[in-house]
This record gives sequence, structure tokens and C-alpha cells, in this order.
Amino acid sequence: MNDLFAKRMSKVPRSFVREILKVTDKPDIISFAGGLPHPDSFPYQEIAQAAEHVLSQEGKEALQYSTTEGYRPLRGYIAQRYQDKGLKVDSEEIMITNGSQQGLDLAGKVFLDKDDIVLVERPTYLAAIQALGLYEPIFKSIPLLKDGIDTETLTNALEDSPAKLLYTIPNFQNPTGISYSLKKRLEVAKLIRNNETILVEDDPYGEIRFMGEHLPSIKNFLNESVFLGSFSKMISPGIRLGWIIAQEEFMEKLVTAKQASDLHSNYLAQRIVYRYLTEYNVEKQLNKIREMYRRQRDLMIAMIKEYFPSGVTYTEPEGGMFLWVTLPNGLSAMDLFDVAIKENVTFVPGEAFYTNGGEKNTLRLNFSNSDEGKIEEGMRRLGKATGKLLKST
Ligand SMILES: Cc1ncc(COP(=O)(O)O)c(C=O)c1O
Repeated sequence: MNDLFAKRMSKVPRSFVREILKVTDKPDIISFAGGLPHPDSFPYQEIAQAAEHVLSQEGKEALQYSTTEGYRPLRGYIAQRYQDKGLKVDSEEIMITNGSQQGLDLAGKVFLDKDDIVLVERPTYLAAIQALGLYEPIFKSIPLLKDGIDTETLTNALEDSPAKLLYTIPNFQNPTGISYSLKKRLEVAKLIRNNETILVEDDPYGEIRFMGEHLPSIKNFLNESVFLGSFSKMISPGIRLGWIIAQEEFMEKLVTAKQASDLHSNYLAQRIVYRYLTEYNVEKQLNKIREMYRRQRDLMIAMIKEYFPSGVTYTEPEGGMFLWVTLPNGLSAMDLFDVAIKENVTFVPGEAFYTNGGEKNTLRLNFSNSDEGKIEEGMRRLGKATGKLLKST
């Protein structure tokens, strides 16, 4: 049976998160496992009005085939948004994609041959391992410290053997919630500039900063890179729209690869999103999300302090949707998962986020998708499960 499938399929792990979501899709289970925005954050009434307008006023164009690069005014809007934050981007350098996930796939398609080296953070975003993994690279992981990637290990890795790509998530990383300090951003830019490696900077959470100061992207200091953005966390993931920013010579290849994949992203959705962005108050919408997630994040941390045994440590993200918990040494998050399921609460054990095996005592908690009531009750259950596991070992 296995002979039926391309060899590359055997190397790609199934998404552990999706497997968990299947087990835990029951009403009495409180789940901190998924990576979903809060449904109350979706501006569905405004989107409905924007859709009505686009269909009734622009229907004949909006339902037609379109260009691979995407709806020009939307590309212009995105470019302007970056320019307002001090990042020089031209709309010609932007291509609309089906979420940033497609950007990852296209980067793999365009840059990776079998056995090329891809450097990733340890831990890293699971679906990036999947997307890039399909192109059969050799993954090498570089530890993630409190203030970003370990640049000493990165320097050695780059000296050791030439890497094709470095994949980073500098803002509110999935899964850890960690952000790079300004110093780390500058160091990475310098290292990449001095090597042949291409930086893939993935930034789906950048707009969801709810505390601390805005920091420039690595791209601010390194123009030649592949930068990925997304409307998933700003507006809605169901809309499936994101973008790639890259210079002309990269973009030419990326456009060809996207053409071969799907001709172009949903044109109707692009026009609806553009109408929404230009006719409604996006800042108000973003502030609503930020305020909501900050409260949920604060509550989750307060509940760890209240209900979890001492010796448990955690990250304190300044944005995004996740925090990362480390259990006392010797405890396994997989074992905790089994105890927690009996208490009707779930999360993702950290092992899922490592390319070459990782810390067994780590886990990812999502705080964006649950109401405060669920966070309180779910964390009480999880604290109880952790206490039980600690006693039994
Ligand atoms: C780091 C990271 N990159 C990319 C994605 C994919 O996002 P999109 O919905 O834009 O495809 C996610 C989604 O959770 C993510 O966490």
C-alpha cells in the first residue's frame, strides 16, 4: 500500500494538533489545544456588508479570474500599512496568498531541493515543519532563548554547513509566545547578510501586540528576505488570505510557483477584505482583539500561579495567542495529557513542536479561543491534573 504514495509523504508528520482536536471535540472538554482566534473577534457584520457591496456593485469583476499577484488595491493597502510603521515596502513586492501557510509552501517549492539544510527555532511552528518537510530538507534546530533565537548556536550552524533557509517567527512565536529583542533582530539580520542563507520571516501575530513596545521586523534591517503576513489573526482565518513580501527576483519564481498551484487566491474574498479594510475602522477592531487577548492571557497566568504546583514555569507573551509551560524536570507532558483528558481539559504536549525530538516536560496553551470562565475552570482542572501527576511520580 505504501508503494502507492510518493516517498516524500512518509517523512511528513501528521498534525498532532489536528489529532488532538478530533479526540477533544466534545462539549464538556475545555480545550487549550487549538490555535484558534476567539469567535467574538470576527467582524462578521461588517464583512457581510462589505460582501453585499462588492457583489452588488462589483460582481461582474469580482467573480472573474484574476492575476496571480493579487488584487492591486489590496496589495497597495498592505504596502502602505508597513510604510506607516517604517518598513519600506512597494506593492510590487507583495503577492496575496491563501494564508501565510501557502507562503511557507511556496518558499519550500521555490528554494528547497532534497537534503538542503533548513534552520528552524527549537521549538517551532508545527505546520511549517509539515509544509517545508514535503520538500525533504534536513532540519537543524537552533535553541530559542527568552529573547529570541540563540545567535551563538546560529553562528556556529551557519559556519558549519551552508543552510538554504532560516525560518523564524520573531513576534509572539507559535508555540512559545517568545519575541525577539531588538538586539536579536539586528544580530540575525547581520548574520544572514553575511551568509548565502535566505531568511523566511513569518509574522502572522505582529498586529496582535497587547503590551510592550512595537519592535521593527528583521526585514527592517535586511531587505533581501521572504516575509510572510496574514489576515487570519487580524480579521478571520476562514477568509484564508495572507501575503508574501519578497524582492523582484524571488517574487518572479514565487509567482510562477503559485500559478502552478492555484492560479490565484480567492478574488472575491480579496475584494471583500479590501472593502472592509478601507470602509471600516480596523484599528478599533484590532484594539478589541488586543484588549480581549490581554485579559485572557493575564487570567491564564493568574490561574497558573493559583492552581499549579511550584516548579512550573511559563512564558509571559506580550502578544499573540499562546503561552508555553515547562513542568518540573522528570515530568512528561504526554503523561499529563492522559491525566488531563480525564479531567476534561486538553493542551498540546510540546514534543509536537520539535523537528528532532525535544523537551518532554513542555506544553503549549492557547489563551485566545476560550472565554474567561473557561480559562478559569480549565486551568483549575489542569492544575489539579498536574498536581496528581506530580504525586504519582
Ligand atoms: C507561525 C504561524 N505561521 C503561519 C500560520 C498560518 O496562518 P494562516 O492562517 O495565515 O495560513 C500560523 C497559524 O497558526 C502560525 O502560527
